[in-house]
Amino acid sequence: MAKVKTRNEIRFILNGEDMALTTVTPDATLLDWLRLNRSLRGTKEGCAEGDCGACTVLVGRLSSGRLVYESVNACIRFLGSLDGTHVVTVEHLRGEGGKLHPVQQAMVDFHGSQCGFCTPGFVMSLYALWMRSPEPSGAAVEKALQGNLCRCTGYEAIARAARAISSYGEAAKDPLAAERKTIATKLAAMKDGARIEIGSGKQRLVVPADADDLASVFDKEPGATIVAGSTDVGLWVTKHMRDIAPAIFIGNLDGLSTISEDNGIISIGAGVTYTEAFSTLAKRIPALGPLFDRIGGDQVRNMGTIGGNIANGSPIGDTPPPLIALGARLTLRRGNRRRAIPLEDFFIAYGKQDRQPGEFVEAVHVPVPGRDIKFAVYKITKRRDEDITAALGAFLLTLARDGTAAEVRIAYGGMAATPKRAFSVENALLGKPWTEETVQVAMAEYARDFTPLTDMRASAEYRALAARNLLLRFFAETSGTKAPIQMSRHEAA
Ligand SMILES: Cc1cc2nc3c(=O)[nH]c(=O)nc-3n(C[C@H](O)[C@H](O)[C@H](O)COP(=O)(O)OP(=O)(O)OC[C@H]3O[C@@H](n4cnc5c(N)ncnc54)[C@H](O)[C@@H]3O)c2cc1C
Ligand code: FES
Ligand code: FES
Repeated sequence: MAKVKTRNEIRFILNGEDMALTTVTPDATLLDWLRLNRSLRGTKEGCAEGDCGACTVLVGRLSSGRLVYESVNACIRFLGSLDGTHVVTVEHLRGEGGKLHPVQQAMVDFHGSQCGFCTPGFVMSLYALWMRSPEPSGAAVEKALQGNLCRCTGYEAIARAARAISSYGEAAKDPLAAERKTIATKLAAMKDGARIEIGSGKQRLVVPADADDLASVFDKEPGATIVAGSTDVGLWVTKHMRDIAPAIFIGNLDGLSTISEDNGIISIGAGVTYTEAFSTLAKRIPALGPLFDRIGGDQVRNMGTIGGNIANGSPIGDTPPPLIALGARLTLRRGNRRRAIPLEDFFIAYGKQDRQPGEFVEAVHVPVPGRDIKFAVYKITKRRDEDITAALGAFLLTLARDGTAAEVRIAYGGMAATPKRAFSVENALLGKPWTEETVQVAMAEYARDFTPLTDMRASAEYRALAARNLLLRFFAETSGTKAPIQMSRHEAA
């Protein structure tokens, strides 16, 4: 492998100022740095775990030569991941002639600022929305604010302000739009193809030059922590005070950040975020669209990757069950050696995946189901938006001409120590007529496949019942039956 050049500083632009940081620790968050080192205290700390949105800032980066700005949670975003970006905080917002920015003025006039503490975060999320959609629908406003919590329940005033922003100014005349050309030129110049290495031992962080360089670095330091979007790893630091050094930052790496389709297989690089994957996946596999809309809020979807959702091995990650039902395969890489395995085989036991030291997730390959294949995924949570799964079921069915089930793949999250297929249920359905009687018989098989746990998200009984009812729902939606289907009800103790 050709020798890569290295440098020892993270370069980015903060509002209007060029930054070159040489003393960055792996666990330094953008939020702490903004508030403590730069005295930019408009960005607030509420939860420090990516939930409340009080810390929302924008991060601009070049994507296929275009400068795009996305909202992110500064509390779980590490400084080490910011190379080649433009960080925009609430202090940078201004309107023409020293007036308030249109987003700010709308928030004032529509009484959208109530407690004041959460307001900068709301303003930044609305700013991101206004830039990409100056005349947003009510649904678009709701989606853009999924990751911003208003504890005084004043959402209506904020939503009214969101819909009125364009009456205060044109997005094209936004001060940030005026500086965009200069910023894009500067960011392009920062991309020098170098590996970044800062510190040593417990202070060491590396940003590989590209995916090949990552393979080489991780092969030599298999004990390092890979950090992709940091929407899980960020919490290890802020909530569990875990030491993540040495850390290898892989967000936006060339060779890991593409999504493409070939011969009916969608290949998603491990660094592709939910936001980046959304348009392709929602178009080609529509059932995944509503699921993605319920993963975190915009800030989490702009940072979090599908690769990270798989690699973390969580039993309640939202993407593994549908991808398993679809028959996805995983490419794992160590150095120059690659191997491909069915995604379902990756999950061995709780906290244990089929990943060797120095090996990383490179890509996941997802077959697009044909028109005659029925596919659905259902997520059950306590509240609709920005909530972690209690149970999630994914179903894929192909019916033969005679109406019998020719292919069935069912996978669940939240029902076992890993994302898991429901083999006994599948066997009870396979080759049988797709009728309610068959489904009722198959529902008895759930007890063989799963022994769910009780935790803060749901009781074992609730999970078992919900899982069975999801199969009934899938049957109702795919059979076109008009007869009412009797669902069992769960009575809380
Ligand atoms: C507020 C909030 C809401 C959330 N809501 C949801 C939700 O609704 N549904 C859901 O499923 N999850 C949710 N999550 C969890 C998280 O967003 C996802 O698991 C996300 O996909 C993790 O991806 P990441 O890129 O941020 O991973 P990171 O945090 O960077 O890494 C996660 C783990 O994977 C490892 N890793 C990452 N990439 C690779 C790779 N390429 N090869 C090997 N190892 C790798 C890391 O070392 C780490 O162990 C939420 C998180 C937050 C903070
Ligand atoms: S402080 Fe709550 S999301 Fe960052
Ligand atoms: S306006 Fe801040 S919590 Fe409602």
